[in-house]
Amino acid sequence: MKIGSIEIKNNLILGPMAGVADMAFRELCVKFGAGFTVGEMVSAKGFTMGDRKSAELLRLSDKERPAGIQLFGTDPQIMADAAKRAMAFAPDAMDINMGCPAPKVANTGAGSALMKNLPLAKEIVRAVVKASEVPVTVKFRTGWDSESICAVELAKICEGEGAAAVTVHGRTRQQMYAFPIDFDTIAQVKQAVSIPVVGNGGIRDVQSAATMFYQTGCDAIMVAQGALGKPWLFQQIAAYLNHTIVLPDPPLEQQMLYMIRHIERIVAYKGEKVGMREARKHAAWYLKGNRGAAAYRRKCGELENIEQLKQLAAEVIASQHLGEKGEKPDDDEKGKNRKEV
Ligand SMILES: Cc1cc2nc3c(=O)[nH]c(=O)nc-3n(C[C@H](O)[C@H](O)[C@H](O)COP(=O)(O)O)c2cc1C
Repeated sequence: MKIGSIEIKNNLILGPMAGVADMAFRELCVKFGAGFTVGEMVSAKGFTMGDRKSAELLRLSDKERPAGIQLFGTDPQIMADAAKRAMAFAPDAMDINMGCPAPKVANTGAGSALMKNLPLAKEIVRAVVKASEVPVTVKFRTGWDSESICAVELAKICEGEGAAAVTVHGRTRQQMYAFPIDFDTIAQVKQAVSIPVVGNGGIRDVQSAATMFYQTGCDAIMVAQGALGKPWLFQQIAAYLNHTIVLPDPPLEQQMLYMIRHIERIVAYKGEKVGMREARKHAAWYLKGNRGAAAYRRKCGELENIEQLKQLAAEVIASQHLGEKGEKPDDDEKGKNRKEV
């Protein structure tokens, strides 16, 4: 599949997730078969004003390419300026965020609030396309609320202004992260434009991945929360779509190994103090659904180094084996009860 001039490895994309899908996680998902990733959203204003953290978030590693970076903002000129400066990070594509529901973003008129101001959205796409040396993509929801579905109109605007692809998250801003997913609107967008359309929302397993393709006719799918604590989901989806094989989750020992490797990488990139703090939520996602998960979640919150993580992993493995001999699980099968973040 192509996004403008960029050939991507397959049509399985890891969604951008601020505070979660950092370089370590993106690299891991690519290893498991994600064909494209998008970095965490960055404020165009903060970045152009020299904010160091913003610049750090724009860094891409060679192991995750091809990959895009994402900007949010309200001022077309600042967005264009940020896009120009961001070329220093050599992104393969430049994504514009028009879907973020968080009040600190939407209350400034950025993110999902742009779906209420299509003339401004149009100006932003035009300015960024002009400034960017790489294909520009736009990510938005179906609309602000169920009374104001505008994804088709916005997609046409994006195409008209030269965007190379759009991602449609099949929820309104009002829905935040709740179900159901509006496949019909994504399908209508696919019918309305000729640039690639990426379907996003609610993909948690191979069935929901297939449903997204089947119900919408989209060119690619984007998986976000479904990959948390389960980066091998990309491998499972690829096996299902390409060979109709349903791969089981890896054995627990293997899952724990992936978790440890993932968190070692976070620590390598961010240092022990910051890295372990950020790793706690990932550890809890990996352990979710296992016997005694609630108690383990508490322990995850106290992790301070890799040694403690390894001990916890060993404890989880031992307790699951004990469980196999007759104890009752206190949680559902892994992933079934996953709470939306
Ligand atoms: C913790 C978190 C952070 C997110 N950060 C971003 C972001 O930086 N940029 C963006 O466009 N979407 C962001 N999203 C939205 C996801 O990319 C995706 O559109 C949404 O979660 C729906 O897909 P899912 O149902 O597969 O999770 C975020 C979602 C979550 C849960």
